[in-house]
Amino acid sequence: MSSTHSRKFIRELRAGAKLKGTIRVPGDKSISHRALLLGAIAEGLTTIEGLLPAEDPISTAKCLSAMGVKISPIAKGQEIQIQGVGLNGLEEPEEILDCGNSGTTMRLLLGLLVGRKDKHFVLTGDQSLRKRPMQRVGHPLKLMGAEVRGRSNGNFAPLAVFGQQLHGAIVGTPVASAQVKSALLLAALTAEGSTTVIEPAHSRDHSERMLKAFGANLDIGGEMGRHIRIKPGAVLTGQKVVVPGDISSAAFWLIAGSIIPGSSILIENVGLNPTRTGVLEVLKMMEAPIKILNCRDVAGEPVGDIQVTYSGNLKPYTLNAEIMPRLVDEVPILAVAACCCNGVSRITGASELRVKETDRLAVMTRQLNAMGAKIEEHPDGLTIQGDIPLKGTELDSETDHRVAMSLAIASLRADGDSTLARSDAAAVSYPDFWNELERLQS
Ligand code: S3P
Repeated sequence: MSSTHSRKFIRELRAGAKLKGTIRVPGDKSISHRALLLGAIAEGLTTIEGLLPAEDPISTAKCLSAMGVKISPIAKGQEIQIQGVGLNGLEEPEEILDCGNSGTTMRLLLGLLVGRKDKHFVLTGDQSLRKRPMQRVGHPLKLMGAEVRGRSNGNFAPLAVFGQQLHGAIVGTPVASAQVKSALLLAALTAEGSTTVIEPAHSRDHSERMLKAFGANLDIGGEMGRHIRIKPGAVLTGQKVVVPGDISSAAFWLIAGSIIPGSSILIENVGLNPTRTGVLEVLKMMEAPIKILNCRDVAGEPVGDIQVTYSGNLKPYTLNAEIMPRLVDEVPILAVAACCCNGVSRITGASELRVKETDRLAVMTRQLNAMGAKIEEHPDGLTIQGDIPLKGTELDSETDHRVAMSLAIASLRADGDSTLARSDAAAVSYPDFWNELERLQS
C-alpha cells in the first residue's frame, strides 16, 4: 500500500552527457485517468490507445476493478479495453480503495462515488497522499448533498463516503484545480438537476472535452470557459480514446535539450492542449530555440512534435499566479532551467506546489541548493539566481516523481557525478524515464 515508504533505489548519474535523438513520451496522465473513469461508467466498450502504463493510472484502474469494472491488463504499447458498467453500475467494493500516490485518483473518485446512493466506500493512499488536502473536494461536494468523512474534519484520508442522492448546485471551486472541477462534474452526472461549476481561473479542460465526447450534456460559458454547466440524464457511450504524449513528461526533455551543451532532441506526439502549454510559454520567454512541428488534432486534443536544441544564452523568467494552472507540474523542472540561465528568475503565486506529492518548493530548494544553486524560498514561490555552476552531489527525490526526474536533468548539467536516492519514484508517471535517459545519451 505505501509506495513512498518502500522507495529505495539509489541511482548513479553521470555528469556532462549530451542528449541527442528522437523520443516519444508516454501517454498523458490526466487524460489516462479520465479515459479509465469515463470508460468505466459508460455503456459498452471503451478502447484506449496510448494509456500511460504507470503507477498512478494503474491505481485508478485497480480501484475501478474493485467496483466490478472489467479492464484488460495495462502494459506498455497495449490497447486497453474497458467494459463499461453504465452510470449506475459501480458495485460497492468489499475492500478499501487504495489510490496509491495518486491525488487525481482519490479526488476524481470522490466525485464519482459520492452520488452512489446507499453505497459505502473507503479510500486511502500512501504516506504522501494521506497528507494531501481533500477538503477542497469534500467541501464543494457537500453543497450538492455529499457525505465524506475523514481525519481533520474530512481533510485527510482515509476517507469514508456514504453515497447520497445528490442535488445540482452552483458551486465555486476554492482553487483553480482541475481535480476539484472534475470531481464536481463527475458528481453532477448522477445529481438531480443541473450543476454549474465556476473556477477562479481556467484549469486543464480534459474532463470537459472527454465528457462531451462520451455524450454528456455539458455547456461551457463565462470568461475563458470558467463556467461549466452539466445536466444529468445523458447516457454516456463507450468511445475509442487516443491519449497523446504527456507534455508534463516532455518538459524534462525540453529543459534538458535547452540546458545541456550539445543536445538536440525531437519529442514526438506531445499533447498541446492550451491549458497545459505554460512550459512552452516560459521557454519562449527564455528565448530557448524550440520549434513546434506537425500540429494536428488527435481525438479531440491538439498534438504536435517539438524540436529543442541547446542554447548557451537562456534568459531568466518571471512567473505569477496567472500562468500557474498551465504549468503547475512543470515548476520543479523550470526551477532547474532557471539555475542555468543568465539572470534572476522569479516565481510567485505557486503556493499550490506545497500540497503536491511533496512540498515541491521546499524540496527543490533543498536539493538544488545542495548542488550549489542559489534559490530563495518564499511562501508562494522561489527566487532563483541563474548562471551559478551546479556541482554533483548526493541527491534525494524525497519520494516525488517530478523531483526525481528534475534532479536527474540537473545532474547532467553539473560538474561531477551525482547519486539520486529514491529514484524509483519516477515510475509514478514515467516508468521508462531512466531507460530513455540512457538511450538519448548514447
Ligand atoms: C491534475 C491536475 C493538477 C495536476 C495533477 C493532475 C489532473 O492538479 O497538478 O498532476 O489530472 O486533474 P490540481 O488540480 O490540484 O491543480
